[in-house]
Amino acid sequence: MTVPASIPSRARSRGPESDAALARQLSVLLPGATVLPGGERAEAYARDESGLPAYPPEAVVLARSAQDVQAVLRFSREQRIPVVPRGAGSGKSGGALAERGGIVLSLEKMNRIVEISRADMVCVVEPGVVLETLQNAVEAEGLFYPPDPNSQQWCSLGGNLAHNAGGPRALKYGVTRDWVLGCEAVLPTGELLRCGHRSWKGVAGYDVTQLLIGSEGTLAIITKATLKLIPLPPRVETLLAFFPDEDVTAAAVQRIFAEGLLPRACELFDGATMRAVGPRAPFRFPEGVGGALIVEFDGHGDGVAEELAAAGEACTRAGALDVVAAQDAAQRRKIWETRRMTSVALKDLRPHKISEDVAVPRGKLVDLIRAVRAIGQRHGIETACYGHAGDGNLHVNLLFGSPEEQARGHESVAEVIGATLRLGGTITGEHGVGLAKRDFLAGEQSQELIALQRRLKAAFDPEGLLNPGKIFPDPEGG
Ligand code: MLT
Ligand code: ZN
Repeated sequence: MTVPASIPSRARSRGPESDAALARQLSVLLPGATVLPGGERAEAYARDESGLPAYPPEAVVLARSAQDVQAVLRFSREQRIPVVPRGAGSGKSGGALAERGGIVLSLEKMNRIVEISRADMVCVVEPGVVLETLQNAVEAEGLFYPPDPNSQQWCSLGGNLAHNAGGPRALKYGVTRDWVLGCEAVLPTGELLRCGHRSWKGVAGYDVTQLLIGSEGTLAIITKATLKLIPLPPRVETLLAFFPDEDVTAAAVQRIFAEGLLPRACELFDGATMRAVGPRAPFRFPEGVGGALIVEFDGHGDGVAEELAAAGEACTRAGALDVVAAQDAAQRRKIWETRRMTSVALKDLRPHKISEDVAVPRGKLVDLIRAVRAIGQRHGIETACYGHAGDGNLHVNLLFGSPEEQARGHESVAEVIGATLRLGGTITGEHGVGLAKRDFLAGEQSQELIALQRRLKAAFDPEGLLNPGKIFPDPEGG
């Protein structure tokens, strides 16, 4: 098998006329489908939540079915035009950006919950289903789909599958891949593939389903997925613990686990994050606070409250200034509202912030926080860390007020990543590599491992036309 040496560059020049001609061809191919030519009407498809520059597509197609996806991928192959699959555009690594032009294939209209089966404890969904819509639908049946990325109100399952999304509850329940039993997907050749199973167990052959999960839309386009569901835990208990500084906060995480506890979420705010969210939070933070943890448990019966009390005591022993438990669902919601506004609050403060999602082994959390502080001080850059401390996954934010400052900040980003890797961590704990982190992949993975992944890519996509330029370091590598 030959590995494509480079992404085919479009023979045709770009411009309003060629974009309009491409849109016309696609409209003929898919009568009745929504097709937008590049330019103003396609503007919303040129960006995502990564903060990367806009990459205007040449055309946008809103697929209605797996057959539409097949038709577009066959056309892409015949015409040698790249195709970039896209969900809701909530991605933070540029995975849905048409960096090399071509067609953006949106799955937003394929948004049916095909089935929720209580007997099998599974659901079958199309990729355009919004995560929160699915969560509400299964919870109405007394069932639970735990993955909860911060964008859950608007991100779609296709993007979650492509990026193997996770959120606070990943600590106890794992990430998206832990909930996927099988899927239907279209290969870049246009073939329709069904892989995996509906039973909770199944070990036949290579696990192609799992290979697709987290492949960032570079191997195939998922058109349907079978997801595992569990009973909705009847009891949830949440606390908020306040600490004098971030080092003490991070150290408290260890104390909680040392008690033999496994919360479903353990989220950290450092001092800078507290200062940013404080004025917007629906409750007042105590004086002198320089860090906080949200700790949450779920399950059955009084044991859940006992676990919460034990976690609260661990926080107090670790140096907490105050520990408060949510008294009801409304208070719990307020705590999570505060957590979910962190990224926006920091962005309002410093519009050109760069946000990373590195992860380290849990035992290295304090070291990571110290390393970030030292990097910030060395470069004269304000930093803020928050996020999924329980699983060592921190959103390290480098805060800039202007684009010029941001340009200088790239050195600090490289240093944060270098420190993470020295601590045994990973460049991305949940947002994916996409475009944003492809230049760092070789710092984490060996040449042999990257070469193997390129060979896999070539097996699925010999022409290198599906979501080219994502994940791999060499911009010519596809
Ligand atoms: C979060 O956990 O808040 C998100 O993954 C990070 C972000 O929105 O920057
Ligand atoms: Zn996160």
